[in-house]
Amino acid sequence: MIYSKIKGCGSYLPEKILTNSDLELTLDTTDEWITSRTGIKKRHIIAKDQLTSDLAFEAAKNAIKDANLQPNDIDLIIVATTTPDKVFPSTACILQKKLKIKECPAFDIQAVCSGFIYALSIADKFIKTNSAKNVLVVGADAMSRITDYSDRSNAILWGDGSGAVILSSSNKEGILSTHIHAQGEYEDLLHVTKKEQAGVFKETIDMRGNQVFKMAVNTLDMIVDETLSSNKLAKEDIDWVVPHQANIRILEATAKKLNMSMDKVIVTIDEQGNTSAASIPLALDYGIKEKKIKSGHLILMEAFGGGFTWGSALIRI
Ligand code: UT7
Repeated sequence: MIYSKIKGCGSYLPEKILTNSDLELTLDTTDEWITSRTGIKKRHIIAKDQLTSDLAFEAAKNAIKDANLQPNDIDLIIVATTTPDKVFPSTACILQKKLKIKECPAFDIQAVCSGFIYALSIADKFIKTNSAKNVLVVGADAMSRITDYSDRSNAILWGDGSGAVILSSSNKEGILSTHIHAQGEYEDLLHVTKKEQAGVFKETIDMRGNQVFKMAVNTLDMIVDETLSSNKLAKEDIDWVVPHQANIRILEATAKKLNMSMDKVIVTIDEQGNTSAASIPLALDYGIKEKKIKSGHLILMEAFGGGFTWGSALIRI
């Protein structure tokens, strides 16, 4: 049996930090409201001269090094992003150039906050069908570039960053299953629209936060059940949940569903905000580097985002 095993991981956060106190200066909000309603204290913001591919490049370099590989050992690149450098070519192709990888297939995946799970799911299929041996899977987003900083209802959420894993072909257990879904009828609840800001039209995020919140909690409940039952596993078998970091209250609801204490949930939202496709690999890298997640552990990744899209991955580390 061929498995996709996580051979290495890496992440990157841009230097600039935007705190709740900074937001208090420009928005009708408070640190107390943001902290209690979302769990967020600060987020990292991409520099003016950086692009999403630069974020992806840093995380990818770290992951390749962590896997003890050379860039040219990579035979497939998938980048999950909602904020590509350009309409074309794909951020994955630009990343390939930056990594000086000579030739291999490279493409982007757009599934917003569920993008990393989608990318992982596709990479797993390439490995299981013997079509690739070492896949670089990146989640990278510069959400600040599409945030309306005059809209307090969601500007407080978003952050920028990137995370990457190297998935390698192995006969040892790795990805046990992935589950991906979409329901486009909910497009209007969380999407990017053109809005006027100081006389200029800009494409920015528009979200019916409360409705999205309720759908996210219920849907993540279902995906937990789907993942466990398809692997004939019980809640107690999970060592760590590595969730998309959307809102601490959503993370707490998932932990409750799993009868798990929050000590078994990797939480980075306080320091990073919601980094969309980057949040799961950032959380994974944090969990591994902090020596919380260890070899042999069973981890459940789950995400919900615009589309709506949602998904999960059950992985033996
Ligand atoms: O990652 C992709 C998926 N995204 C998500 O899962 C995000 C899901 N949604 C959320 O995380 C939450 O809905 C938000 C954090 C966005 C909003 O929290 P909420 O508890 O759902 O607030 P709400 O939208 O129901 O608003 C409650 C009140 C309103 O005031 P009134 O009408 O009760 O007087 C808002 O105007 O809070 C007000 N409010 C704020 N007050 C201070 C909304 N944003 C702010 C703010 N500061 N930043």
